[in-house]
Amino acid sequence: MADLVRAAITGLGGYVPQKILSNEDFEKLIDTSDEWITKRTGIKERRIAGENETTATMAADAARPALADAGIGADELDLIICATISPEMTFPATACFVQQALGAKNIPAFDLGAACSGFVYALAAGDQFVRTGMYKNVLVIGADTLSRLTDYEDRSSCILFGDAAGAAVLQPTTDPGKGIEYSVLGCDGAGWDYICVPGGGSRHPASHKTVDDKMHYIKMRGREVFRFAVEKMEWLMADCMEKCCLNVDDVDLIVPHQVNIRIIKAAVEKFSFPIEKVALNIDRYGNSSAASVPFALAEAYEDGRIGPGSVVILLAFGAGLTWAASVVRL
Ligand code: ACO
Repeated sequence: MADLVRAAITGLGGYVPQKILSNEDFEKLIDTSDEWITKRTGIKERRIAGENETTATMAADAARPALADAGIGADELDLIICATISPEMTFPATACFVQQALGAKNIPAFDLGAACSGFVYALAAGDQFVRTGMYKNVLVIGADTLSRLTDYEDRSSCILFGDAAGAAVLQPTTDPGKGIEYSVLGCDGAGWDYICVPGGGSRHPASHKTVDDKMHYIKMRGREVFRFAVEKMEWLMADCMEKCCLNVDDVDLIVPHQVNIRIIKAAVEKFSFPIEKVALNIDRYGNSSAASVPFALAEAYEDGRIGPGSVVILLAFGAGLTWAASVVRL
């Protein structure tokens, strides 16, 4: 019988803009305090895209180091998947702009919209293309510029979001100790209005009214999202550990969506999982949506916290409502 092929992550890269928006900056903009934001979310600062930066430029800036890490050129890629909910424009897909920026001619490129779960969804999709043998070198990106969709007068949501991108190169492996071992994806469309940008689509096309009603900005029911997130993160952790027969000691790092430190702590504490084995950068970057998981993964890898042989669990949830997790052996 032929050896089972699956996708291994062979390159990682991340990018954040230079500009910092701190809690102290927010104290000057809205009725809030560093103390409130830190205590309720764990966020101290987040990055904001510069005038010339967009989702596609950040995605390409994360992809370049990922390609270099994998030791391949853009001309060797077979497919680009870009997970984003803040695309370059309604169409073409952001992935097309990334393809052009990287100089990866003629290969397929498409976007995937699953909000903060987007990268983990895209990783599972990329894994399937590799497993079937359809493609060999797949670039999977999570990139979001939520600052362009944020209402900076809405104090309950604007303090959460930052801009970033993260990228991974997938290539086939038959080594059973490597690769994407397990993925789980889910969605409950009944929760679509927990977090959404209602304007600009086919339901509410852009008009003076949608602009006046601020419908092109993120609308969020924070407390409901919070409850959903804690429950889902616990469920995803339990599912990954059970399906892959892992116990706490077998896992080197959990990379959760950087959503809120209280949500992350509540979930990992339930499993008595040591917080030292959780990738956390929410204090510096806030919630960067689809970029959150790949950027934190790339950072942990660059810092040497994980490397070849590490067992990593990726956990994400977001608008949709969507949720997703992967068990990855580096
Ligand atoms: N500064 C000061 N006070 C604030 C602020 C602020 N920035 N925001 C809200 N408050 C006030 C509220 O008005 C409220 O006051 P009241 O009691 O007088 O009514 C009080 O603080 C408590 O508000 P809650 O909403 O109950 O605060 P909570 O502890 O739930 O924290 C938060 C709010 C941080 C939004 C939390 O609910 C959360 O993190 N939810 C998850 C949201 C999230 O992660 N969304 C992204 C999903 S991912 C994606 O798909 C993009």
